[in-house]
Amino acid sequence: MASNRSIERHFSRGAQAYHELALVQRAAAEKLAEAIDQQQLAPARVLDLACGTGFLTRIMANRFPDAHVIGIDLSPGMVHVATEFLSDCPNVELHVDDALQYQSPEPFDLIVSSSSLQWLRPYDHLMANLKAMLTPDGWTCMTAMLQGTLGELHQLRRELFADKLPSQSLPLADELLHAMTNAGFAIEHQEVHEAMEYYATAREFFASIRAQGFTGGPLSQGAQPLTRGELLTLIETCQQRYLTDAWGVPASYCYGVFAARQQ
Ligand SMILES: C[S@@+](CC[C@H](N)C(=O)[O-])C[C@H]1O[C@@H](n2cnc3c(N)ncnc32)[C@H](O)[C@@H]1O
Repeated sequence: MASNRSIERHFSRGAQAYHELALVQRAAAEKLAEAIDQQQLAPARVLDLACGTGFLTRIMANRFPDAHVIGIDLSPGMVHVATEFLSDCPNVELHVDDALQYQSPEPFDLIVSSSSLQWLRPYDHLMANLKAMLTPDGWTCMTAMLQGTLGELHQLRRELFADKLPSQSLPLADELLHAMTNAGFAIEHQEVHEAMEYYATAREFFASIRAQGFTGGPLSQGAQPLTRGELLTLIETCQQRYLTDAWGVPASYCYGVFAARQQ
């Protein structure tokens, strides 16, 4: 729960910056929508878990104008920005809630989530909760940031401060696929995408991920925090190691797109 508070605080504070800067996550939501289109679903009720500022919620509301679309997120700041962003979507309802605890009196035909699964552990608990909320022929379609995302930064942390690593690492696609299969879902679609962003300097890169709220919770923080001096060493080493004249400092992303149905 302590880590939940850290996630919530960082994403609430970063909500507006996230909405403006999170281009890879926007693209992931679009890719997920394409995967959902291929399944030719016609849901009456859709749940967007950990909806953030509503990139995917908006796409779902437009794709399925007759559906009731509910978005929930742990961070009030995210829900605040989403409320404004989705104010012209009459079929959307938003709540501040924990995706791992959320329950609904009425089942959903489709549960979606984008760029958030990595925060929603343990997966056996999450998948059991999803199954309990889905109709018997319901679907769950999700994207997750996978190992390799911000790989340059994680590599440097391992090299420089091996005794101060984050408490959790990003999942592998197999970990998620196993969790879905074990929970009784049939995987109908899976793909993995890679993307790169470039920053003029390592300092700008670090400022951006911090501003967007990515530096909270167990994926970024360990039992012992980095000192200010250690953080500066990380930034300087990142600049020396990765800066190229042509492109700047790279930030890699790797995400999976999955669609599964109840069986
Ligand atoms: C990287 S953002 C992705 C937001 C959005 N789905 C998108 O596609 O842009 C991750 C989101 O997960 C939310 N989150 C993390 N843990 C959560 C939990 N246990 N329950 C609900 N939301 C959670 C955060 O508040 C944050 O808004």
